[in-house]
Amino acid sequence: MTTSSAPGKVYLFGEHAVVYGEPAVPCAIERRARVTVRERADDQLRVRANDLTLDGFTVTWGGEAADRPDVDVPTHLVEAAIGYVEGAIDQAMDAADVDEAGFDVVIESEIPLGAGLGSSAAVVVACIDAGTRELGVELPREEIADRAYRVEHAVQDGQASRADTYCSTMGGAVRVQGDDCRRLADVPNLPFVVGYDGGAGDTGQLVAGVRSLREEYDFAADTITSIGNIVRRGEEALRNDDLAEVGRLMDFNHGLLSALGVSGRSLDAMVWAAREADALGAKLTGAGGGGCVVALDRTEQTHTALQYTLGCEEAFRAELDDEGVRVEDDTEDLDGDMDDSA
Ligand code: PMV
Repeated sequence: MTTSSAPGKVYLFGEHAVVYGEPAVPCAIERRARVTVRERADDQLRVRANDLTLDGFTVTWGGEAADRPDVDVPTHLVEAAIGYVEGAIDQAMDAADVDEAGFDVVIESEIPLGAGLGSSAAVVVACIDAGTRELGVELPREEIADRAYRVEHAVQDGQASRADTYCSTMGGAVRVQGDDCRRLADVPNLPFVVGYDGGAGDTGQLVAGVRSLREEYDFAADTITSIGNIVRRGEEALRNDDLAEVGRLMDFNHGLLSALGVSGRSLDAMVWAAREADALGAKLTGAGGGGCVVALDRTEQTHTALQYTLGCEEAFRAELDDEGVRVEDDTEDLDGDMDDSA
């Protein structure tokens, strides 16, 4: 058996606009998804997930659509979770040139699902790494990132950028524009504070909403171009170590995302709490709707303010994670018995 882990991320700048070819700067954070893969004697795929949203959720299926499990969490999250794991395992088998195999997969994640912190990308990246290693193959990071992107792209109906999967694989702060992905060098220390409202957004639906707005209204197309301009200014501010300017640009970026209709009451409340606590800047991160905001603050003020903000369920400091995907373990036995699963 093999365990690999990969980090979640926050978007410093550029979500949604990145779908239309503008650049984005996601940053990996030290919150990880750990995926353990063990080859089975049969060709079944069994998955157990313990994370903040799908706590205790266990599914067993043989790859047939009719075998979809009956569990008490929103269906789209379960279907997406199954799709991600199934896709990652398919990629691992393809990379290892294996036609038939079965696996027990255990997911332990510190990253809330669907909350804009890249939980699905982290699970897919870690699962491809653990799955291929379990089959005796070690892939270069570029290939893991590329295969993980293909999984997200398929599960999200062709609406995913490479940002999440590349960032989770490589770690650090990265720049993604279309197929051009690279790590940013010499990024200053970014004092991230994350606020989480306990909810989730439906990425596919939110991306589709922005797409139709962009088709119907010139302002929306212009807003997406403006977000691209903010990202480029943000990169310059990062190069100059100018965190005050980075924060200002985050504020502008949030305003533009609101104009595109992807913020929400709790996200706005947390952004305003951060601003009133003198954060350098604050914005939603990821697809929006619900989930997380990210603020920059060297002091404790924003963290404290968020803890007292109505609608904020959890607030935490997040360090930049330089490492990306890594193998954790390839010896110990799986934690718990998969045979009594639902
Ligand atoms: O909420 P997340 O972590 O799935 O991020 C979505 C980011 C989008 O730009 C809205 C879509 C994408 O694939 O880039």
